[in-house]
Amino acid sequence: PHQWRGVIEEYRDRLPVSADTPVVTLGEGGTPLVAAQWLSEQTNCEVWLKVEGNNPTGSFKDRGMTVAISLAAQAGDKAVVCASTGNTSASAAAYAVRAGLLPLVLIPAGRIAKGKLAQAIVHGAKLVSIDGGFDDCLRIVRELGKHYPVALVNSVNPVRLEGQKTAAFEVCDALGDAPDLHLLPVGNAGNIAAYWKGYSEYKKDKISSRTPRMWGFQAEGAAPIVTGRIVENPDTAATAIRVGNPASWTLAEAARDESGGRIEAVTDDQILSAQRDLAAREGVFVEPASAAGVAGLLASKAAGRLDGGSTVVITVTGHGLKDIDTALSYALPAETPVTPADTDAVARVAGLV
Ligand code: F0G
Repeated sequence: PHQWRGVIEEYRDRLPVSADTPVVTLGEGGTPLVAAQWLSEQTNCEVWLKVEGNNPTGSFKDRGMTVAISLAAQAGDKAVVCASTGNTSASAAAYAVRAGLLPLVLIPAGRIAKGKLAQAIVHGAKLVSIDGGFDDCLRIVRELGKHYPVALVNSVNPVRLEGQKTAAFEVCDALGDAPDLHLLPVGNAGNIAAYWKGYSEYKKDKISSRTPRMWGFQAEGAAPIVTGRIVENPDTAATAIRVGNPASWTLAEAARDESGGRIEAVTDDQILSAQRDLAAREGVFVEPASAAGVAGLLASKAAGRLDGGSTVVITVTGHGLKDIDTALSYALPAETPVTPADTDAVARVAGLV
């Protein structure tokens, strides 16, 4: 019987590992490409969702982390460090402890979703809450990496993007070729660069016949690449992409320009509305940031910027259970009445009679 072996074994010849690399895996990758019926109807396109919340720690970060932690273990590192809006820290913590390494994570105090905080805690990360934003955390871990014996596993470590590019391989493997368009959220801007790298490799090696145009979407209150200016105090309900000075800024611009794509902003209202639609119409529950690509698709359609008949893949980057507080803040009725444990009473409350 075939079991998915994780991205290193599935794509070993395309990743920077050797026979001596101890593979640290939780079976990441191999995530479903789900046909999005409602979105396809709305847009007259063939829309697919690459559901990255199905990864072991609930986000796409696991694809890069398996490579980064395996190489850190091979190098004999004892501790790894990262800055995070939550998902990178959850992933780093899980993979590090699996390899017997100490995970040290810096997070912006009060600005990460509770599910992600829980993950870092239960995996046993050394957690440092910083009085500042993600950009401050990233600056500090870069300095720690220079001066202390800790391996940096943020996406400024290029092997992270190598692992993340496997998602583009999977899309091409599933569809038989690259799509016309690939949409995704942009925060620290590593993932759009990773997908572009993956698509470009498959095209170069003639496994696919073309590359997609890359459309990235930032939150309006945290859209430095869109405005061309560092955002000093980024703000958005989509805490995962609350980044004012993305590390992979230049790589993201290259992905945009080389692919003939675009990077634009969507509002928090558009993001949260797309999150609701995904959950209520497609049956796919994602965290707010993860809905930015879907918000971008609907906004593009409304603005007449989407060609009918296109094949469109949208990466939904992280699981909805990561951040139930935001979801419940708009989805929960103010008060849920308690009903007697009685079938007739339930039938009345449920509107069946
Ligand atoms: N979606 C989710 C759910 C994320 O957690 C992130 C990034 C992104 C999208 C954006 O991806 O940074 O490669 O452009 N989260 C990072 C973190 C910043 O620390 O977990 P990107």
